[in-house]
Amino acid sequence: MGAHVKAKALILAAGAGTRMKSNKPKVVHEMLGKPLVRWVVDAAHQAGCDDVHVVIGHGREQVEPLLGDCIISYQLEMLGTGHTIMCAADKFEGYEGNIVVLCGDSPLITASTIEHLVETHEASGAAATVLTMMPANPFGYGRIVRDAGGNVAGIVEEKDCTEEQRAIGECNSGIYCFSAPALLGHLDQLDRNNAQGEYYLTDMLSLLAADGLTVASMVVEDNDECLGVNSRAQLAVAGKVAQRRINDRLMADGVTMLDPNLVWVGPDCVVENDVELLPMTMLWGTTRVSNGCVIGPNTRLTDCAIGSGNVLEEVVAIETTTEADVTVGPRAYLRPGTYLCEGAHVGTHVEIKKSTVGPDSKVPHLSYIGDATIGTDVNIGAGTITCNYDGVNKHQTIIGDFTFVGSNTMLVAPVKLGSNVVTGAASCITKDVPDGALAVERNEQKIIENWTERHFTNKRTS
Ligand code: UD1
Ligand code: CA
Repeated sequence: MGAHVKAKALILAAGAGTRMKSNKPKVVHEMLGKPLVRWVVDAAHQAGCDDVHVVIGHGREQVEPLLGDCIISYQLEMLGTGHTIMCAADKFEGYEGNIVVLCGDSPLITASTIEHLVETHEASGAAATVLTMMPANPFGYGRIVRDAGGNVAGIVEEKDCTEEQRAIGECNSGIYCFSAPALLGHLDQLDRNNAQGEYYLTDMLSLLAADGLTVASMVVEDNDECLGVNSRAQLAVAGKVAQRRINDRLMADGVTMLDPNLVWVGPDCVVENDVELLPMTMLWGTTRVSNGCVIGPNTRLTDCAIGSGNVLEEVVAIETTTEADVTVGPRAYLRPGTYLCEGAHVGTHVEIKKSTVGPDSKVPHLSYIGDATIGTDVNIGAGTITCNYDGVNKHQTIIGDFTFVGSNTMLVAPVKLGSNVVTGAASCITKDVPDGALAVERNEQKIIENWTERHFTNKRTS
């Protein structure tokens, strides 16, 4: 967040995204576990924009909760990108500085390109500077039309292009830096005389040029930064670029990946050095993995904090914290509020929720642990279940240090086992157990001699 560009950001995010064929607005769709619009907002913040404005409209009840740190305007009728600017214009009244316009569906734009665009704009003294690109396939993008002197004369949308214009390789990224008075002062001159019957923001450039103002351009260094996501196919392409960018950085920083095509790490995750990420691992949200861990295969961690030297194999974990040298899996489900202390072990087919497992304690096989606090060096036998829910309320289970819970124990909460307790296998524990006691709840075993012989004699046919 070092930079501080002289600009406010204005992000267009009101469109429906018809080409996504989705019930949810396009900018809410996720790339590496993060909504498209958040990528753009965070790039603007990171560039140091004074304020980040976002115009939302379609499905706004789904978009707005993602934008707590932004200034929101509403576009209730989708009349085009020019109209979107009109809907936010009142927020910039009296503002004389620069407005960087960004698209909520161009998630790969970087803070450094935003900074560079504003610097270029400031240096040239232009009324508008458009970020342009040379994509391998220009289909669908507006084309940059230049006059005989090579200056930007305007932008023509794909649908409005002549055959000749369609052959132009230089395209509009949809990202611009405007001087606010020039932009706002010409909004009333936009019209809807085009193939889509919309107010095109792109027409602003020819309007400014016609008024004798300077329209500058800057070619983006990396075309991928301007990839627009209009369809699911483009979402996949952009996601692949993001994945490669992040994985290349992580490997350069000392993370091992058996196959970087099969590891997905969100942009806000931190992975320390000497971590090994095995195939089909996804790290989402604000997950942090400390050094020396082996994560995967088949593991998804969302908003987790993982201590050093952990081995997590085939684990799904959400809002889980682990200390150093914890081992989990294969095949465990750690739900929000799980806290595993140093040296703890959680094994196979175990589910844990809102519980702490103490240092060196083990929950090795086939258990459900919910709303529990487990002390130091405790062993939880196979098949143990905390019966934490009575159908109305959740209750706590507390297990003291060095306690040994026998296999298939039902712990009916609220219940407290002291330290050094032993429970007999298959016991249903409903009462608190004092320190050092054995608790057994089990019918006595019966032996009926020679039963098998008698039972089958009359039934066997041969
Ligand atoms: C737009 C540009 C095109 C450029 C391309 C880059 C226009 C007319 N065209 O085309 O020159 O090459 O981006 O990706 O600007 N939006 C609104 N309200 C609206 C319409 C759109 O907020 O009424 C938002 C959308 O949510 C989206 C952005 O503006 O985030 C771009 O709109 P979209 O319809 O995707 O424009 P493109 O056809 O991609
Ligand atoms: Ca688009």
